[in-house]
Amino acid sequence: MFSLKDRLGERVEAAFQSIGLDASFGAVKAADRPDLADFQCNGALAAAKTVQRNPREIAAAVVDVLQKDPAFTKAEVAGPGFINLLVSTDVLSSAILEICRDPNGGGWRAPDREKIVLDYGGPNVAKPLHVGHLRSAIIGEALKRILRSAGHEVVGDIHLGDWGLQMGQLISELERRMPALPYFSSSEGPFPSAPPISLADLEELYPAASAACKADPARADEARKATKALQGGRAGYRALWRHFVALSVAAMKTNYADLEVGFDLWQGEGDVDPLIPELIDDLKSKQVLEPSDGAWIIRVAREDDRKTVPPIIFINSEGAVGYHATDIATIVDRARSLAPHRILYVVDGRQQLHFEQVFRAADRAGYFPENRLEHLWFGTMNGKDGKPFKTRAGGVLKLRDLIDMVKERAGDRLREGGLAEDMNAQERDEVARMVGVAALKFADLANPRTTDYVFDLDRFMSFEGKTGPYLLYAFVRIRSLLEKADRLAGLDDPNPDAIELSGAFSDPACRELALALASFADAMEGAVRRRSPHLLCDHAFRLAQAFSKFYAACRILDEAEVELREARIVMSAVAGRQLKLALEMLGIATPHRM
Ligand code: ARG
Repeated sequence: MFSLKDRLGERVEAAFQSIGLDASFGAVKAADRPDLADFQCNGALAAAKTVQRNPREIAAAVVDVLQKDPAFTKAEVAGPGFINLLVSTDVLSSAILEICRDPNGGGWRAPDREKIVLDYGGPNVAKPLHVGHLRSAIIGEALKRILRSAGHEVVGDIHLGDWGLQMGQLISELERRMPALPYFSSSEGPFPSAPPISLADLEELYPAASAACKADPARADEARKATKALQGGRAGYRALWRHFVALSVAAMKTNYADLEVGFDLWQGEGDVDPLIPELIDDLKSKQVLEPSDGAWIIRVAREDDRKTVPPIIFINSEGAVGYHATDIATIVDRARSLAPHRILYVVDGRQQLHFEQVFRAADRAGYFPENRLEHLWFGTMNGKDGKPFKTRAGGVLKLRDLIDMVKERAGDRLREGGLAEDMNAQERDEVARMVGVAALKFADLANPRTTDYVFDLDRFMSFEGKTGPYLLYAFVRIRSLLEKADRLAGLDDPNPDAIELSGAFSDPACRELALALASFADAMEGAVRRRSPHLLCDHAFRLAQAFSKFYAACRILDEAEVELREARIVMSAVAGRQLKLALEMLGIATPHRM
């Protein structure tokens, strides 16, 4: 157990128990006033209510016990019955030594390992991205890494939107423009293996098709028919569809890689198409699927609903399946092929009703228990006008444009700060990408998942304050210090056999750094339990600040006393490694220098 808070909590729990009170009152948290204490326990106040006694008296009795415990150098009653605690140097230094030895740098491990499918990203083939897709990729990637570090087995699936109406719109648009292509004949194939159009053509085709369908009902009907024929298995359409998906996916792979986002599976809605007929039979036989006005629906409303939860249209009156059906079939597919314990969806808050319906239906049909399906929704990244952010004056969000924009801005910032000057163009470019991506991702992840925030690149990009660039800079500084000490290996394995750290803790800044390091597990546990990376962002920032103070207050490389110098170098290595681990978990890559 690497949480110092929990470890001390156990002692305070035992103290409550020893005076005849419930152990649960002994929970400890970081002190509200770090100038007065390291930790505090507020349990005496709650205990007082349940046993009708004076809280200060209870606190005093607990403090009596704790004063005899060598783990604390101070235990005292404060205010109406708070217990303030200072941890002993011995306990603190053995906590740090354990963190040194732990390959996870003192991170949290979940007590039970689960197999989890994480559904995130969710871009739509050929359609432009929106901020919801961007946030999903950023938050999902961080959650994937955090859950993995906590010991879970996580399979990340992009779940491409490749089966909707946009496919019929594209196919019919191309058919109008190039009717002679073999895909539009009644041929059963084989069809050419090279795509008939380029990615640029595809990107131009979609807006044109979608505008045409909006303007003309007859044109829209054509698109619907093409969608149905595609889903019905028409060979030429399927071949064309595979080309569209492949073109889109190739571009996505580069862009997501630049964003440090990687998926294990590139499955899409279309991949579960073969399951649909079987599911229809099964759902009918279970009487979950009911006919309604020519369509087939699943009722999911419940008596105690406080809002209306409308039925799912599983098959529409034209005989096509939509978004609900593919999501239900995907649950079945995942249950069969991966047998996960849980499926998590990192998708826009606007889809809450959709997932509520899908989860209820999957549960009703006996496909997957609802309590193991979680919609981890998030708020919107807005522009300064308060509307969802867009790149290109009012236009759509292009991931490529966004990456180029943050990279360029980061390059400017590096130049202004006189950084990265001695690098060649290639390295400078790569560092600019890392700084830009760190700025974008950290600004997103630092907010509790469900809140909206405003895209403000100047603020995100600052080297001061709670930003990605500040954290990268802090890391690079630690790394260069270790390099000078010829101790770079310490970043991967700070393992200081038989080192004496306690002497270094007489300095308050070093002690504070140690306390920050020993709270990593708490931050991670919170991030896992709340499925929100922001707690890990808070930790990374606290750690970087604590290191900064330590660096300013203590001599490190030029400390004359060998033992002290050694202890401080080890503290730097542990801090550097933990900062790197935290950033990695957030999906933020660290440069070697800047
Ligand atoms: N493609 C969808 C959209 O753009 C998001 C997919 C989310 N994942 C899911 N399993 N439904 O709205």
